[in-house]
Amino acid sequence: MRIQVSRRSRSGRRFRSGGGSRLEEDLDCRRFRTRRRTRTRGRFRSGRRIQVVGGTRLEGPEFIFLQQQIQSDLSLISRNMESTGAETQIYSDELVYSDELVYSDELVFFVNGTKIVERDADPETTLLTFLRRRLGLTGTKLGCAEGGCGACTVMLSRYEPITNKLLHYSVNACLAPLCSLHLVAVTTVEGIGSVAGKLHPVQERIAKSHGSQCGFCTPGIVMSMYALLRNNPTPRMMDVEEAFQGNLCRCTGYRPILEGYKTFTQEGGCCGGKGRENGCCMTNGNGAVKTSEEDVDEATMLFNTAEFKPHDPTQEVIFPPELMNLSKGQKQKSLRFRGERATWFQPRSLDQFLRLKWKHPEARVVVGNTEVGIEVKFKNMIYPVILAPAFVPELNAVTHVHDGLVFGAACSLSHMGAALSRAVETLPPHQTEVFRAVLEQLRWFAGTQIRNVAAVGGNIMTASPISDLNPVFMAAGCKLTLTDKDGSRTVQMDDGFFTGYRRTIVRPTEILLSVHVPYSRKTQFVSAFKQSPRREDDISIVTAAMSVTFTPGTDVVEEMRLSFGGMGPTTVLATKTGVSLVGRPWGEELLHRACSSLAEEMTLDPSVPGGMASYRQTLTLSFFYKFYLTVLGKLRLQGVNVPEISSELVSATETFHPETPSSTQIYQAVPAGQSQDDVIGRPMMHLSAMKQATGEAVYCDDVPLYENELHLALVTSSKARARILSIDASAAERFPGVVRCLFADDIAGSNVTGVKQDETVLADGQVTCVGHVIGAVVADTQLHAQRAAKAVKIQYEELTPIVTIQEAIAAQSFYEPIRTIESGDLEAGLKQADHVLEGEIHMGGQEHFYLETNVTLAVPRGEDGEMELFVSTQATNDTQSRVARVLGVPANRVVVRVKRMGGGFGGKESRSTVVSTVVAMAASRLKRPVRCMLDRDEDMLITGGRHPFYGKYKVGFLNSGKVVALDVSYYSNAGNSRDLSLSVLERALFHMENSYSIANVRGRGYLCQTNLPSNTAFRGFGGPQGMMVAESWMSDVAVSLGRPTEEIQRLNLYAEGESTPYNQLLQGITIDRCWDECLSRSGYQQRRAATDLYNSQNRWTKRGVAMVPTKFGISFTATFLNQAGALVHVYTDGSVLLTHGGTEMGQGLHTKMVQVASRVLGIPVSKIHISETSTNTVANASPTAASASSDLNGAAVQNACAILLARLEPYKNRNPKASWEDWVKAAYFDRVNLTANGFYKTPDLGYSFETNSGRAFNYYSYGVSCSEVEIDCLTGAHKNLSTTIVMDVGKSLNPAIDIGQVEGGFVQGLGLFTLEELRYSPAGVLLTRGPGMYKIPAFGDIPTEFTVSLLRDAVNDKAIFASKAVGEPPLFLAASIFYAIKDAVMAARAESGVGGTFRLDSPASAERIRNACRDQFTKPFPPPEPGTFKPWSVQV
Ligand SMILES: Cc1cc2nc3c(=O)[nH]c(=O)nc-3n(C[C@H](O)[C@H](O)[C@H](O)COP(=O)(O)OP(=O)(O)OC[C@H]3O[C@@H](n4cnc5c(N)ncnc54)[C@H](O)[C@@H]3O)c2cc1C
Ligand code: FES
Ligand code: FES
Repeated sequence: MRIQVSRRSRSGRRFRSGGGSRLEEDLDCRRFRTRRRTRTRGRFRSGRRIQVVGGTRLEGPEFIFLQQQIQSDLSLISRNMESTGAETQIYSDELVYSDELVYSDELVFFVNGTKIVERDADPETTLLTFLRRRLGLTGTKLGCAEGGCGACTVMLSRYEPITNKLLHYSVNACLAPLCSLHLVAVTTVEGIGSVAGKLHPVQERIAKSHGSQCGFCTPGIVMSMYALLRNNPTPRMMDVEEAFQGNLCRCTGYRPILEGYKTFTQEGGCCGGKGRENGCCMTNGNGAVKTSEEDVDEATMLFNTAEFKPHDPTQEVIFPPELMNLSKGQKQKSLRFRGERATWFQPRSLDQFLRLKWKHPEARVVVGNTEVGIEVKFKNMIYPVILAPAFVPELNAVTHVHDGLVFGAACSLSHMGAALSRAVETLPPHQTEVFRAVLEQLRWFAGTQIRNVAAVGGNIMTASPISDLNPVFMAAGCKLTLTDKDGSRTVQMDDGFFTGYRRTIVRPTEILLSVHVPYSRKTQFVSAFKQSPRREDDISIVTAAMSVTFTPGTDVVEEMRLSFGGMGPTTVLATKTGVSLVGRPWGEELLHRACSSLAEEMTLDPSVPGGMASYRQTLTLSFFYKFYLTVLGKLRLQGVNVPEISSELVSATETFHPETPSSTQIYQAVPAGQSQDDVIGRPMMHLSAMKQATGEAVYCDDVPLYENELHLALVTSSKARARILSIDASAAERFPGVVRCLFADDIAGSNVTGVKQDETVLADGQVTCVGHVIGAVVADTQLHAQRAAKAVKIQYEELTPIVTIQEAIAAQSFYEPIRTIESGDLEAGLKQADHVLEGEIHMGGQEHFYLETNVTLAVPRGEDGEMELFVSTQATNDTQSRVARVLGVPANRVVVRVKRMGGGFGGKESRSTVVSTVVAMAASRLKRPVRCMLDRDEDMLITGGRHPFYGKYKVGFLNSGKVVALDVSYYSNAGNSRDLSLSVLERALFHMENSYSIANVRGRGYLCQTNLPSNTAFRGFGGPQGMMVAESWMSDVAVSLGRPTEEIQRLNLYAEGESTPYNQLLQGITIDRCWDECLSRSGYQQRRAATDLYNSQNRWTKRGVAMVPTKFGISFTATFLNQAGALVHVYTDGSVLLTHGGTEMGQGLHTKMVQVASRVLGIPVSKIHISETSTNTVANASPTAASASSDLNGAAVQNACAILLARLEPYKNRNPKASWEDWVKAAYFDRVNLTANGFYKTPDLGYSFETNSGRAFNYYSYGVSCSEVEIDCLTGAHKNLSTTIVMDVGKSLNPAIDIGQVEGGFVQGLGLFTLEELRYSPAGVLLTRGPGMYKIPAFGDIPTEFTVSLLRDAVNDKAIFASKAVGEPPLFLAASIFYAIKDAVMAARAESGVGGTFRLDSPASAERIRNACRDQFTKPFPPPEPGTFKPWSVQV
């Protein structure tokens, strides 16, 4: 702040402070003459006294303004006097103030107790960038940069002088502007504990409860929990769930995190839901049903709460005392920070604020930055002037007035929610109808971190058509106060307020001052509704609020306001409908009238942005119907004579209440007598879990910056198919910080790359998908590189793209070969069948959404073309060879190092080289280290995902239900290159019969060549797609026979000794055991009966149950990949360094490998260390994929350790009582080689498509799941009520890790089959880029009851220590949720008189569910005729 004051001392000497020139000469200068003098006295720190005489009794609004300024003059003049040696006493004859006030450019805040003083902080710098890049605090992660994943969660604390309270709240550091942190204490994950020091209980418990797999989400989750505990040391479970609404995890399936943290809650004090014996979860009815033949050797404890350190809230890090003093001691100064492109003003009074807005009408008011931050980051917006109202009391106040509550526009949503909740508790219910409707919307508004900072005014002023609060404010008739420097006006919030898409009547010089939320009247009822793809932290598809007021004592409508979001470019009022209902009684006739009027008034064009036109229109009626029933109930409660709602309709009025999940895990206990040192079969914690929980685990982008390091951003195609006419990088090169723009011509080696050598590193002449990498910009910072990359101008000649599978089929655009597997005699089988039916299903793709995006750091070594790469990749060897190729050097010059990944799931198997090759090329060209971490939107755009599949089938079956013939065709959308698509398709064919024995089969597979980014490996690798189609015809067969699907499935299950269509003999089959255990453990029959009963009693909510088996072949289908190596060094102190070819991506591979080495060497795990995976230790490693890594690398590790053990054997024999260290030393002095290589290749593999013979797989993993769901037929929303999984993982190496894989895989599958929808425009542009638009499962999506049982006594003689692979097989089991939904939809259709089989595509989104439940509300909105309109998105 600069304050410019002109004064004269008594001696007559002129004294000026705060600036060089006389202000009278300043154009903006204002002069206030005082009528009376007042004095401000003070004292220097040196003890000398000072007195300032200033003017008071000013007229007009300037009065307060001036008063405040005078307070701060003292310190300012003091400073100047000290430096100029002016006299001790000053009298001021005049005070001269200007709008151009004196600002402070000093940003003072604390990070983990350390004071930070920043001068002229850049308003565009986020807290996250500052923490990671400036302070090196890399524990806080970047997952999305848009507030949607929570990986960047930190806690902010501030002292509130008015209430004398400390406020602690979680925020997303990726959106928090650094400039907003003045006088704030920031606590990051590093600030609360460390492995070397002391772990905080929130860190310890998530680690020990196995809640951290890849660990990339863990610091964010830790900090959300920490912030909750700081405010509430003994929360309820629902508080915990609420605290996690803004956090995502892609690995764990959430269950272990909730289980671990339950121990902090009021509910979890006893056994944390684990007490099957103690009866905790059994008594509350949530425990799994025991099998009749309960195993005596089954174990259920995965962690021991007795090991947990107690949580002592008194031991928390204290708020920095200096900050407390600073916050208490001085009046806030106005702040101004000037950055590269923007200036941040934070004035300390409303008057200043308004003057600044008047002076800078284009200025953005920024409170939470949850809109503006997104616009700057993703929409390329530049806002040169930012006004922050944090110091303006009027904008932050909550005031109770006679007819409601008035919220300052800058009040955060959390603050607003708390005030409304208090009011609801204290006021009579009839007054708080509006408040409760707002609270209902707030419950599902974003996540906690967003609500803690986002302002109510920000929501209104953004004027988003899908704002969740605006409909309530409109329906309730809220009033807004708008103000500028010349005065205020109050306007009604109605449809006149919004003038167009994201536009309002607010004038540029005005701001929104406050929102008046009124009390409801005695006869007024208000409800709010929101339907979004995911319940938690998601934006609306349609959002609505409805208010009706009745003539007292009657059911006659006096006033009606219906407001909708998502039904036009603004929030809209259905005024016509509202008016037409006035004067009518609340009854059936009104309902019909309202529905037909709404159908006419709320129309949408089929091409509407966001798509789903029919669904959205249906929702308007569905919501109204819910409102109608709700009001009917309330009227009756008030004694008004209206018809009673029949009991089968009541569930339609119930609002969703999440239930706290309960879970059970069952596995085989280690045999009695197994040595305590032998950790095989024990639920050992992931070896990095503690480091992950403290933020000390180092991921690729956490490697400290090299001194001369550069950052790279990719230049990508905006066209799906085009010839490149010209590239103009001249503007980009002029951007600040840019070092070089690179294109195909800059490649020294070969530009040819890809699994099948059919791709370019950088596009050369043509592009074949949106996101095709064309070039790269290298600059001093990532931000500079990204900004410049957007400025590269490319001219294209556009060609017609092929985007969808159907377009590819029409154009016969297929990659060769077309695969076929055939066995038996299909024609004969179809003839033999009593029935033949045909069907089809489309299954959408899936984004990997590993929390850590693709990242590479390439460091040229300066000699002989050597290059060292730190890469987040599952494939070290492929990365090495592709990088060597692009650099034009032999592979021995390139070292690829992988410490760990923040998730991979197949997405970093072949596609990570899209980034690493370009980065290596740039580093080689510029001879400097170069780093690139893709932003989430870039990663989603460029790197492809799971293949969408379209399956068409003809199935022949007998009256008994036995399937005798299957003709199935698979079409996969491979994208613009072959990549791994053929292997994916082959695996789909290998799984086309799922677990069913069918005598006559023909399966064909087509790879559609399209102009989408190349699709690639993804957990399951085609298996889930293959089996999904199988379950579709299985369900059709059962429905057409009118028999329970479970019966038909059981009848067709494989039996021991049968062969697959590809002629592999099935031995050691356990699918029948899994089936029976799942059936009994889930209580399937009782569930089915209860579901049928429920469905008969409820019209608008329906339940469904389904079981699904899986049989998953284990091995790479490319035979040569089934090999692995290991390298083991034993050092003379006895410590062991273990290296193998597999990479750690959270799946616990390193932990299992250490367990293997520990058992073979007979030493504790503490003596064994894995540092990283690298190409210079284990060469030619196969990618960590195909679930086979524990099998392959485990055997290689076993081999190496056995070699070492054999070498040590003589020394052990010579001195059996000596220690490991002694034997090692003795061997060393005897000149024994203490390094060993291990190697393994899977025997007897090699399938031939030509002859349909040879073993495709080493063995199979089996599993069965049973799920129950409930759907809301009116909205399409669903609840996952229960899932029971029985999984055969052989003799588990580590039950905690294996159960983690089962649950994580299942929840990822749940996303695939019910939630995750990649939407592409007809032109091939991915529209869903980031967590805002693409929804992976969140905490609230997991089944309320979740039981996982690892099959006992299941010994596998084909893999290490009798274990089985587990990474991929469980994913498909989530199809049980999909088919349970289909079962429920079937019940809904039956009520509407629609029977028989029907097509339900995957994912079973809310839209698909709603559209499939046909009824009177869907009728007015039939799906638009394809071809008659241009859809917003297409099914690819
Ligand atoms: C992850 C995520 C989830 C979200 N979920 C939801 C959701 O579920 N429902 C929903 O409705 N929205 C949602 N949003 C949108 C957003 O959070 C809200 O609109 C929020 O209320 C904006 O507040 P803010 O303080 O962050 O706005 P800012 O970004 O600080 O400002 C937003 C805009 O409002 C203007 N503005 C702010 N205050 C004033 C004022 N007093 N006078 C004049 N102009 C002003 C600013 O100039 C700016 O243009 C979500 C956003 C994110 C990032
Ligand atoms: S990185 Fe901040 S929320 Fe995802
Ligand atoms: S452990 Fe949560 S994202 Fe990996």
